[in-house]
Order: sequence, then structure tokens, then C-alpha cells
Amino acid sequence: MIFDLNPTPYLLTKVDGCEKLNKHYDELLKSEEYRPQIKDKHSKVNSTYAHASAEDQQDIYDELMDSIFPYFAKYINSFGLSTNKINFGMDVWHNIYNKGDHQSVHSHCSNNNVFSFIYFVKLPSNSGDVCFFGNDLSKHFYYTGFNDILINPITDKFVPKVETGSLIIFPSHREHYVSFNESGDERITISGNIGVKLDADI
Ligand SMILES: [Fe+2]
Repeated sequence: MIFDLNPTPYLLTKVDGCEKLNKHYDELLKSEEYRPQIKDKHSKVNSTYAHASAEDQQDIYDELMDSIFPYFAKYINSFGLSTNKINFGMDVWHNIYNKGDHQSVHSHCSNNNVFSFIYFVKLPSNSGDVCFFGNDLSKHFYYTGFNDILINPITDKFVPKVETGSLIIFPSHREHYVSFNESGDERITISGNIGVKLDADI
């Protein structure tokens, strides 16, 4: 018999109160101060990630953090852990995809990131999908180039069904990419990494 290896639990939900949140970010992002202008080595889209200004802007995410915390707690619970038993830190940034922008394959595996999330502030139709490798084999054959010699390459992908106001939380090692924004509108997301360490004092 042949079985599948490595199913990965991820959380997908529509965030309670997302309309209010998105209105907040719509207003905020009208200000040039909060609009990322630079595509850097970490991101091929306009992103605040790794910018000097990013740390100064963390307070703009407070409301979002409060809104998504219950979902994070639920996700952590699925691993048999309670959020009051762990110390965690978050690193958050926002991304604006203009027409033609996309994001190539990457993971969020660095430092002590365990989980990552994406919150969808604005997701016009045809503005790009977040795609994960459908299975380990599609990832392996992508990186080794083995797909190039296969008549039927293994290119399975998994595309969570998200919409404006959706949140996905997933293990940081799961590689993903974002397909091209083919709409004439901006696609706006807020992404983050969650670093977790066990608190020995509890
Ligand atoms: Fe990402």
C-alpha cells in the first residue's frame, strides 16, 4: 500500500469584525506614511517587511492582533497547548500588490518562527491566489528539477479559499507563493510570523 505523508493542519476563518478592521486599514493606508514604497530583497511587492520604518509602525496592527488572537489560541489548542503556557512574539508587516505583482516561492522559516499568518484586507477578484505546494512531492520535484523530465509533472498546489476578511494561520515551514495580480485594483494583505518558546517558569 502507498499512503500520504505529512498532512499539515492550518486554520482558515473569516475574522469577526473584519469590516471594521478593513475600514480602519483603508483609512490608514490613504496616508503616504503607511504606504510601503519599496520592493526589497525579501519581497517583490511593496511591503513594509524589513524596512527601517516597519518597527515604528507596529502600533497600526494592534487592533488586528486583538481580533486574531482568539483564532491563534484555537489553533494552538489544536496542538494540545494553551496560549498561557507559552511565550510568543509576533513580527507583522503589510503588503500592497499592484497590477502585475506576485510573490515567488518562499517560506517564513527563520529565527524561531513556528507559525505564520496572512490576513486579507483587500482581495479583489483576480488579484492573486496564495498557493501552497499540494504535497511534499510537488515541492521536492520542483526543487530538484525532476518535474522537468516528467511527462506528467507533479505540480499539485493547494489554494485556500480566502476572501476579504479571511485569516489563515499555518506552520512557517510551508512554502507558498502568490500568483500575479491581474486585476486593476490593489491587493492588500497583512502578514506575520509567530515565534513561540516554552516558558520554563510556568
Ligand atoms: Fe509569505
